[in-house]
Amino acid sequence: MILEVTNLTKYFPVTGGFFGRKKLAEVKAVDGVSFAIHKGETLGLVGESGSGKTTVGKNILQLQRPTSGEIWFKNKDLASLSNKELRPYRQKLQVVFQDPYESLDPRFTAADIIGEPLRLHKVKGGEYNKRIAELLKLVGLSPYMAERYPHEFSGGQRQRLGVARALALQPEFIVCDEPLSALDVSIQAQIINLLDDLKNKFGLSYLFISHDLSVVRHISDRVMVMYLGKLMEVADRDSMYEKPLHPYTQALLSAVPIPDPAVEAERKVIILKGEVPSPLNPPTGCVFHPRCFKAFEDCPKVVPVMGETSPGHHVACLLYKECWP
Ligand SMILES: Nc1ncnc2c1ncn2[C@@H]1O[C@H](COP(=O)(O)OP(=O)(O)O)[C@@H](O)[C@H]1O
Ligand SMILES: [Mg+2]
Repeated sequence: MILEVTNLTKYFPVTGGFFGRKKLAEVKAVDGVSFAIHKGETLGLVGESGSGKTTVGKNILQLQRPTSGEIWFKNKDLASLSNKELRPYRQKLQVVFQDPYESLDPRFTAADIIGEPLRLHKVKGGEYNKRIAELLKLVGLSPYMAERYPHEFSGGQRQRLGVARALALQPEFIVCDEPLSALDVSIQAQIINLLDDLKNKFGLSYLFISHDLSVVRHISDRVMVMYLGKLMEVADRDSMYEKPLHPYTQALLSAVPIPDPAVEAERKVIILKGEVPSPLNPPTGCVFHPRCFKAFEDCPKVVPVMGETSPGHHVACLLYKECWP
């Protein structure tokens, strides 16, 4: 186990009044999420926009401090450490963001961008230049590209720079937050392969966040499905895609085209009613019940707990006896 998250919540206060000193309400972006990531594993995190995926990533990395809950890494609860105590752990935990163009400073060269974490850690001179050449090669770019600016790279190459930067300080764990969403499908496959190669080479572990279920299927060993700040289902990749248990997962998967034309012809799309409700005022009971096509009278009243219905397959839905509190 490289990382264990216990009962993570992140509430954002909505303030008002004179100087915004009055707390009017709370956005429950993440509401009691627990999971573990094993060494060398890629754990996929899927869910519609607004479900809390990015917030989970930021709270693991301590880019945001959790409202409550624990983030265990190397026998330390990162959430309980001061900023100073966190420093040695920060370099072990890195992030690759969605839009490489947005996240790269246009006035910086490739070397400046990749080298920033190295400079922060006082890597200098010959060692600095050597490491930048090495990192460029690792991500499939050439050392002679070091002096180029972001606009001189293609979208895929820019994402490679983002990956090189994340690798600079030899991390053990990387949050990949929608790293392919800004890229063409043909380029997406190259970046998936690169991430996979690097994982094997360095024994990395990933939390791979995406709203695209077909992308997650390619890269993940296990998959988690999130909705309105809560985990709905966690399972290894094949059980999740072949035997989804939660009605929400079933609906998400029904919208994904299947490569086999015979199976594809039989595919029935489950249309969910309504929109994702606001996390300011989440529904009672199971948060998914207003949109669920299998909801029954207990669903607005009882909050389901995560239950294990078969080894490694966890779900939070009152259709299953394991999920009754
Ligand atoms: N800094 C913030 N302040 C207030 N609300 C936020 C903040 N960051 C995220 N949220 C809200 O929290 C919810 C989850 O957001 P996010 O984690 O970005 O979801 P996802 O990555 O799944 O799209 C959304 O309703 C979003 O508007
Ligand atoms: Mg997001």
